[in-house]
Amino acid sequence: MIVVSDTIMDTIASSADLAALPTPYYAYDLDVAEQRVSELFDVFPSNSELFFSFKANPLPGLASAIGAAGARADLTSPGEIDAAVAAGFDLGLALYGGPGKNRDEFVHALSMGIRSFSIESFHDLGALNAAVANVDGDVQVLLRVNPMEPPRAKLVMSGVASQFGFEEEDLLAHGPLERSPGVNIVGFHIYWGTQVGGPDELAACFSNAVTTAEALATSLDIPLDILNLGGGFPWPYAVDGSGPDLSPLREPLAALRSGDGAASSATWWFESGRHCTASCGHLVTQVMDRKVSKDKEFVILDSGINHLGGMTGLGRIPRFAIRMIPPNNRSADTLVADVVGQLCTPLDLVGRKVEIPTDLAIGDVVAIPNVGAYGASGSLTNFLSRPAVLEACHRSGKITSIEQLATGHRTVDHLTQ
Ligand SMILES: Cc1ncc(COP(=O)(O)O)c(C=O)c1O
Repeated sequence: MIVVSDTIMDTIASSADLAALPTPYYAYDLDVAEQRVSELFDVFPSNSELFFSFKANPLPGLASAIGAAGARADLTSPGEIDAAVAAGFDLGLALYGGPGKNRDEFVHALSMGIRSFSIESFHDLGALNAAVANVDGDVQVLLRVNPMEPPRAKLVMSGVASQFGFEEEDLLAHGPLERSPGVNIVGFHIYWGTQVGGPDELAACFSNAVTTAEALATSLDIPLDILNLGGGFPWPYAVDGSGPDLSPLREPLAALRSGDGAASSATWWFESGRHCTASCGHLVTQVMDRKVSKDKEFVILDSGINHLGGMTGLGRIPRFAIRMIPPNNRSADTLVADVVGQLCTPLDLVGRKVEIPTDLAIGDVVAIPNVGAYGASGSLTNFLSRPAVLEACHRSGKITSIEQLATGHRTVDHLTQ
């Protein structure tokens, strides 16, 4: 295992490339991302595929390393399609999903070469049926199901009331599903949630998904060629530490694989965004000011919720608990401060009661670890119109690409768009 640690400060100090970058920037270590991808492949049973969830981090420079390590693309928007193209993914092997899709979205995805879709409702299926006219080749459909039984997950998206997927009971009550010529229903997609837990919890979720999918395939007379088991492989966010060792998952997955139901001959798909990218990313930012207000210490950074943690409200990222790695030469004596950004709102809170060296100085470069997933991509980029953060990929400090999300408004002529 690669241990996430303060070595980021050594990496920056010894890297002319990184040291020369203006803050704030994300530094993504491609070697670390590749290591995480290979950990996942190590536990998957035979005949399995990994889909990289672009929602965690659509940065083309990073995604292309993950694609080269063997992952396919899990996409949910036209922007993610563009990112996957830029990263060199084969869209013919990609999966396109997400709730609330309409015909135009399907037409666009199909025109880009996508042929596999996760379908979440009867309306969704109707929109795909309407979109497939004149499309070359067959289209694969996985029915995303919200099973009747809830799993153990922190951010539960299935097994409880949710906007995601068909209700299992609705599918069972419905007659045969209408489909246009060339649209083939080839299996099921069950995504229990993000940050599911350790190997035991993950194994329980996958086992439940296999049972659900096999029962549905029989009841609905649908082939089980592909079973998308989702993922939910956890990793800490913005604090030190590592995710659980996943190797104990290998055996239960292999045992499930060799079961005697229809799932044993299906291709298994897994999805992961967080595990692939969380640990490879640090947000490197600078102390712009320090102040004391009514006995409370504040550190003001050149990075805030416009670059990190804007999705705190979703509970999938920290509720203001962060680790801020100081420069190596700062004092061991610490005090507690609220760490904020430059936006003109008290909501721009990056970390609450964060331990900082007493001598942390204006101009110091600091780093926040484990933010390669849902860091830049989970932030309020447009809020207060500051520039998007720089995002640099590197190997041992040698930068391989630097990218920046384009922000700003363009005029749209609605008559011609
Ligand atoms: C359907 C689906 N697949 C995959 C993911 C990626 O999850 P994670 O980044 O936790 O691996 C998500 C996250 O919300 C999701 O909703």
